[in-house]
Amino acid sequence: MTHADILCWYGCTGDLGYKMTFPALFNMAKRGTLTVPIIGIALSGWTLKDLHERARDSIETHGGGINDKKDAAAFDLLLEHLDYVDGDYTNPATFTELRRRVDARGASRPAHYLAIPPSLFPTVIQSLGTAGLADDGRVIVEKPFGRDLESARELTKTINKVFSEEAIYRIDHYLGKEEVLSVLYTRFANSVFEPLWNRTCIESVQVTMAEDFGVKGRGHFYDSVGAIRDVVQNHMLQLVAMLAMEPPIIDRDSIQTEKEKVLRAMSPVSKRSVVRGQFDTYRTVEGVKPDSKVETFAAMRLHIDTWRWAGVPFFLRTGKNLPVHVTEAYVKLRKPPLMVLPEQSRNMEADAIRFRFTPSGQIGLTLNVKAPGPNFSGERAELMVREDNPDEMTPYERLLGDAIEGDKLLFTSATAVDNAWRVVDPALRIDEDPSTYATGSWGPTDATDHLIGEHGPWHDPVP
Ligand code: BG6
Repeated sequence: MTHADILCWYGCTGDLGYKMTFPALFNMAKRGTLTVPIIGIALSGWTLKDLHERARDSIETHGGGINDKKDAAAFDLLLEHLDYVDGDYTNPATFTELRRRVDARGASRPAHYLAIPPSLFPTVIQSLGTAGLADDGRVIVEKPFGRDLESARELTKTINKVFSEEAIYRIDHYLGKEEVLSVLYTRFANSVFEPLWNRTCIESVQVTMAEDFGVKGRGHFYDSVGAIRDVVQNHMLQLVAMLAMEPPIIDRDSIQTEKEKVLRAMSPVSKRSVVRGQFDTYRTVEGVKPDSKVETFAAMRLHIDTWRWAGVPFFLRTGKNLPVHVTEAYVKLRKPPLMVLPEQSRNMEADAIRFRFTPSGQIGLTLNVKAPGPNFSGERAELMVREDNPDEMTPYERLLGDAIEGDKLLFTSATAVDNAWRVVDPALRIDEDPSTYATGSWGPTDATDHLIGEHGPWHDPVP
């Protein structure tokens, strides 16, 4: 794919744009990578001036602010690049006007960024085809990509009527996180991991995505989605794919292929391998149904049916209003076959390798070391690498930049998305009330302790 020469941004007046996209575009302007004009499209009754104001407000609130001359120049550059079409997506005149503006800039390879509700996708996609805006164009689609396996396949079919698979960029912002990409680098740029990275040395893997806040004013949206659709099907399964994939061959596409293979090798969850929870005050949140059965917590046990991972359970756990805000993978190694030193505790915990993704990157190796003193009792110690990088690109900056450039490495393929839905599909069909848990607790702990069983305890990340 070649470089796109214009960005058409649908839903530019929305919340995602305010919190993520404007700051990302501002960062691109600061870094000198904002090279294409941007046309925002929305039905808000706004003018371009209103959109400029929104951009300023967004950058002040979420983009670090305009603090010096360099920032001010970057902000001006962003505004120079920005145009706006106010219009209804169901009205063909909106797309005629858009086409006129695209042509006026001499652009012919538009990147269409759909930051709009999925229910509007078919209308917009079809109109892009009719207006001749799809030829040599590409489409960037926000998550959630569908609601289940069937709707995701339908959505791909709808988009494929106008855009080839090659031209579809499915965003999962976790794939744009430096800390997440670091897993690939750590695994494949060192030789120390590969000999350990299999069923012989690894006992189990836990991935915890804990958030110490609720649904943050998104009650209506969240209540139509729930934790499994919101973060497990996408962010968490992508993390598992990165942790579990085979080394790629020297070819960028191979990274996608290897991740897809992990998801294809996963069996769908069963009802017994899933725990669903809801925090105690969820039903009183604005926008949430008073008898909602939507889960704000989910834990599950997954298996990857490959030679490398046969018999190694992967435990996933996520929730809103948990005690901490940390996303972490905890790879638990097998214990040594015998405790041969005097005073060595039989209950000694196993060594573990820990990857932290949120709030900042860490890689840790937890070991049992000898406690100072005359005998052989031990204690836990961790060797840790921190990965702070203040100049790090935000995921949206990286992903929008890549989509404009035509680099698909960090986007999810149809195969990956379909298989992720296939894995969680049985959990989406559970129609029982989730167990209530107290805000600030680790969810329905009896059920999750039962789920992890002999592979426990859960490793509760500390902030
Ligand atoms: C989003 C979910 O995709 O990811 C949110 O919709 C969640 O519910 C967020 O809070 C977490 O992302 P991050 O980057 O803050 O870990």
